[in-house]
Amino acid sequence: NLTTSTNPLRHVESMKHPQSVAGGNISKLNAVTLGEAPASEENALVLPNKEFSSKAHVQSPEQYLEMYKRSIEDPAGFWSDIASEFYWKQKWSDKVCDENFDVRKGRIKIEWFKGGITNICYNCLDRNIEAGLGDKVAILWEGNEPGMDGTLTYNQLLHQVCQVANYLKDIGVKKGDAVIIYLPMLMELPITMLACARIGAVHSVVFAGFSAESLAQRIIDCKPKVVITCNAVKRGPKTINLKDIVDTAIYQSAQNGVSIDVCLTYDNPVAMKREDTKWQEGRDIWWQDVIPRYPTTCPVEWVDAEDPLFLLYTSGSTGKPKGVLHTTGGYMVYTATTFKYAFDYKPSDVYWCTADCGWITGHSYVTYGPMLNGATVLVFEGVPNYPDPGRSWDIVDKYKVTIFYTAPTLVRSLMRDGDENVTRYSRKSLRVLGSVGEPINPSAWRWFFNVVGDSTCPISDTWWQTETGGFMITPLPGAWPQKPGSATLPFFGVQPIIVNEKGVELEGECSGYLCIKKSWPGAFRTLYGDHERYETTYFKPFPGYYFSGDGCRRDKDGYHWLTGRVDDVINVSGHRIGTAEVESALVSHPQCAEAAVVGIEHEVKGQGIYAFVTLVDGVPYSEELRKSLILAVRNQIGAFAAPYKIHWAPGLPKTRSGKIMRRILRKIASRQLDELGDTSTLADPSVVKQLIELADC
Ligand code: PRX
Repeated sequence: NLTTSTNPLRHVESMKHPQSVAGGNISKLNAVTLGEAPASEENALVLPNKEFSSKAHVQSPEQYLEMYKRSIEDPAGFWSDIASEFYWKQKWSDKVCDENFDVRKGRIKIEWFKGGITNICYNCLDRNIEAGLGDKVAILWEGNEPGMDGTLTYNQLLHQVCQVANYLKDIGVKKGDAVIIYLPMLMELPITMLACARIGAVHSVVFAGFSAESLAQRIIDCKPKVVITCNAVKRGPKTINLKDIVDTAIYQSAQNGVSIDVCLTYDNPVAMKREDTKWQEGRDIWWQDVIPRYPTTCPVEWVDAEDPLFLLYTSGSTGKPKGVLHTTGGYMVYTATTFKYAFDYKPSDVYWCTADCGWITGHSYVTYGPMLNGATVLVFEGVPNYPDPGRSWDIVDKYKVTIFYTAPTLVRSLMRDGDENVTRYSRKSLRVLGSVGEPINPSAWRWFFNVVGDSTCPISDTWWQTETGGFMITPLPGAWPQKPGSATLPFFGVQPIIVNEKGVELEGECSGYLCIKKSWPGAFRTLYGDHERYETTYFKPFPGYYFSGDGCRRDKDGYHWLTGRVDDVINVSGHRIGTAEVESALVSHPQCAEAAVVGIEHEVKGQGIYAFVTLVDGVPYSEELRKSLILAVRNQIGAFAAPYKIHWAPGLPKTRSGKIMRRILRKIASRQLDELGDTSTLADPSVVKQLIELADC
């Protein structure tokens, strides 16, 4: 039986027939309540629409609870029933899951479906084609410029994937080899990911907004056999020369002993002419010159469920990015299942996730999750406000998108652009909305619900991480009432707990550190080449549990409210950036002696990067220097990590032992000057006054 603490609905029983809600019946929120949060968000229940619920995969809290209960009491039975819907060349051993989740008992180990032999590309493509989906559209591609588009059916996608797979094999890429993909949102990006998976190669997609230094760092870490890129791309009005960035990164990698023999380059004539592309004969190969020559069928490399599928680098609290490693079988079962339930996916849906495949959201919910379900996925190359702020809804109407999944930062920026940009489009096709990447504030939630979704579409606010592979805490549309701003309740098989600083599990209404009690199939298995760091970062802080790095509050109804990172990670527009990474980029500037970076609230981006810098003795602070410090961060990490404020700091507040007091810096950055707290323990308390005086310098 579920114990009290594992029953996510233990506080919600009384909500089976919720009637009284703040502000009356808000199952249809009224537009006039926009921006006005009710006195208590906890009481703001948005009831599911009855008609929606009657057709949903999960129709009521009771049905959810029954399924959830089984997933916790009998995880092996629950997950193996689902896994059996996929194709396995050979079934897994009797042990569906083998784990040690407790550092005190030895090395952390997570294995799901070990011994099972399968292939995720086969399950995305061949299996769906055999089931009759060959002529169904797999990818709808919308280019940066309106009017540029394309489609691929499942049959066509398989052919293209096989051609790339055959090419990769031909140049010597084998099972277990790493392949770096540095591509924008062209169809070739998911095609290449699937091609790698088909031959058992381990892809590592690097977001094409990362700088040459960041790309080099990743190349040096995983030593790929090949780098796959494109000459240039247009994003909004800008042209980005990707090949130059790749050339620099390959050069830097070679300086560090990692040489790249092949750089497969997609020719993107819309953004750059072939003849203008810098070229290194012998190493660089045009995609279009080789790929079409290869056969459109390619045998599958069958792999163990625990063989690696991909590596994805993410930020942590040190300057060195972490190579999060996901394996095949558990990830496959988990992304497919979460996609199906959290979006209430139906075969007739047209699904659009605005994330780039360079981030985990694009891995799990542009490529694998949807395609495992045989879905029609929209891939958009451009940006949502180009050529105007109505672009997203223009696309929704053009393709009759039914599920729209995006980030709160986009919601907030569209909200600022005005309702008219939304309401002049029909959006009648929409039925489910989704949010990811950071907490969605209740006013943005309401606007998304009322204006974008015309008060009819449930919002799946999905809490998860690169490390978790798939959704962990998420509403299931139609299953239970939502609360604006809450990610609600755990997905099947997930046991979230909230602990205090001593690692003691808290009961009932509480807030603290969000941890997970047992493994789930989509969990990452290690940090590439550094299992020690994996254990130290995630399993040692609260022994026995996986520590997420997030703070969380659970309300009286058992709903979860994520409160943001509790470590040195900043979340800017849903992008995860380590303060240490930005600091190390700043101090690489020859005139910067020391840097301390904090995240502060930002109206649109969620958080903004605020950097305090101490200059080398005798160097005067100037506008020019400010710009070149920001440039250092853009060059070392990427434009998305640029600080929005540089605060010149002749001295930083430090303890007598030399530790920077970030708590004080955060207060200065957010101008909460009456909340500085005790500054008497500082080695030099006068620096605080000096910093305040220089705040608007
Ligand atoms: O702080 C949480 C926030 O994003 C972090 C994970 O970042 P990343 O690995 O880049 O993955 C982003 C996409 C899954 C988390 O630790 N986060 C993500 N989703 C939410 C969220 N915070 C609140 N609510 C969410 N729905």
